[in-house]
Amino acid sequence: MDATTTSGTPFSTVIRVASHAQHTEAETSTFMSDLLGGRLGVEAYARYTEQLWFVYRALEDGAASLRDDPVAGPFIQPELMRTAELERDLAHLRGASWHDGLAPLPATAAYAERVARCARDWPAGYVAHHYTRYLGDLSGGQIIRDKAEKTWGFARKGDGVRFYVFEQIPNPAAFKRGYRELLDAVNADDLEKQRIVDECKRAFDYNGAVFRELGAATKSSRRGPLSA
Ligand code: HEM
Repeated sequence: MDATTTSGTPFSTVIRVASHAQHTEAETSTFMSDLLGGRLGVEAYARYTEQLWFVYRALEDGAASLRDDPVAGPFIQPELMRTAELERDLAHLRGASWHDGLAPLPATAAYAERVARCARDWPAGYVAHHYTRYLGDLSGGQIIRDKAEKTWGFARKGDGVRFYVFEQIPNPAAFKRGYRELLDAVNADDLEKQRIVDECKRAFDYNGAVFRELGAATKSSRRGPLSA
């Protein structure tokens, strides 16, 4: 199988370069900057973790039926699954009844619905969402974990930050290399690869929208000189 696009650039490079600007936007979004800059309380972190739960439930509920799919199947790897870890973190952050009354923000609901639709109807689109979340979690997620541990006093790699700890991936750099090889070999023609790139951009847009809604919801709990 052709591992590259017609221009000869590996697909893993194409998708990384194409989403670079939006990645910078996500990293520097007000909510992320405030969260990682220690300007928000653990409440904001808990709210963010709650929203992630809806997204990963969509990703991972969808995964089961895609295991044998020729396009998405190779990406479905049990060591990536995050729902159980999110639930442990939420039990730590919110208590055993963390699920009571929990609802997605409108942006989260739209994001999760899009992921579920891709899982159902368009496996290549699901790959875009899979890449955007899991490769991010294996990369910048480690920076977020480190900051969260220091800012809110979670035990290193313990309850509260288990979402960021991939127990079954001892060497994330090697895993990411393997993941990029899967991307390079994705079973799609150039037009479909372009659609995957477009869907990846949409995935970043969904994340940005969730950050904006979280930021708006967190304004009242902001610490420092901007506090009312
Ligand atoms: C403050 C927040 C973030 C930080 C500090 C951060 C940091 C990083 C870093 C340092 C890398 C490069 C790792 C490497 O080359 O191996 C990376 C890669 C990545 N990040 Fe983030 N990131 C953040 C937020 C996000 C968000 C919100 C998303 C999307 C939901 C995301 C998605 C990705 C993806 C998909 C990659 C892999 C790029 C590739 O190599 O193909 N990141 N991130």
